[in-house]
Amino acid sequence: MAEKILTGIKPTGQLTLGNYIGVLKHLHKEVERGDCYYFIADLHALTLPIDPEVLRQNSIDLACFYLAAGLDPKKVTLFLQSSVSAHAELNAIMQNYLYMGELSRMTQFKDKSSKMKESAIGLGLFAYPVLMACDIVLYDASAIPVGEDQIQHVELTRDLVNRFNNRYGDILVMPKAEVRKVGARIMSLSDPTVKMSKSDPKGDIFLKDDLKTIRKKIMSAVTDSGCEVKFDQENKPGISNLLTIYAALKDISIEEAEKEFEGYRYGDFKKAVADVVCAEMEIFQNKYREILETKAYEEALREGAKRAQAIANQTLKRVKNAVGLLDIE
Ligand code: TYM
Repeated sequence: MAEKILTGIKPTGQLTLGNYIGVLKHLHKEVERGDCYYFIADLHALTLPIDPEVLRQNSIDLACFYLAAGLDPKKVTLFLQSSVSAHAELNAIMQNYLYMGELSRMTQFKDKSSKMKESAIGLGLFAYPVLMACDIVLYDASAIPVGEDQIQHVELTRDLVNRFNNRYGDILVMPKAEVRKVGARIMSLSDPTVKMSKSDPKGDIFLKDDLKTIRKKIMSAVTDSGCEVKFDQENKPGISNLLTIYAALKDISIEEAEKEFEGYRYGDFKKAVADVVCAEMEIFQNKYREILETKAYEEALREGAKRAQAIANQTLKRVKNAVGLLDIE
């Protein structure tokens, strides 16, 4: 059986260079090794308050981003999570096999909920990893390309698969998180000790930023004392982050990037990083605009939903059968 590769991205906030380097850029290569399922995690986007029009626009943008990153919708299954009702149905079953204790230990939940009043924390935010586990197991996916921050959720999915299969037999496929050697955690340009996330306009490079803004953000990125362009996460987090961005975009190792910049001053180094980021973003943004204009994403999502439904419904049936839900056709 062909290997199944799956990942999802939430259409919240604006996508960043972190999302691009961590996963998006590399997804088109996965078709060489198996069946690819990539989706827009729009149900997950509802776990924090979001304006309906913003969610709709973000979802369209994200579909265009996937395609602009070189995905061929005939070769990969690209879909909206909410178009495949099996996600929600399986969620209703699987929520009984993950427990309050383990869900409350999730870093992402702790981070997000710590900034909120308890009365405003939705059940969906707490149960986020249950739905994510369903996303994964529905497609029998074994390889899950993600950034570092999602490893914990995939690990919890593995726990669920173990628990479920121990009880009911060999029903679910065991997934594994796959993170990039270079670029699994791109940091903020304004504070390189925190992750680049969708919510810090100064430290983030957004995929829709114009090239001038991107260049400006890189040129004013926080660097470190000293003057050597060396990778040293602890003492030179700013330079290390820029080296990572450069190496990831050029598809070279950190060591190779360091060698290229031996003897460079910080200013010239930053200029070289900005050149590489802008060159890649220019091509990417042009494709994005073209796809948005032609609405090529609509057909891709329609076809993708049909294919995804067919696979997901099979797994759902298998699970329903395993747990004892009557199946009357
Ligand atoms: P999301 O939308 O927060 O991020 C999408 C992907 O981008 C990665 N990422 C990063 N990688 C490197 N550096 C960064 N600074 C950076 N920021 C984000 C994330 O790790 C992720 O891979 N829960 C998921 C969406 C999801 C999903 C799934 C993923 C829902 N169901 C099933 C895989 C499988 C999320 O919120 O990603």
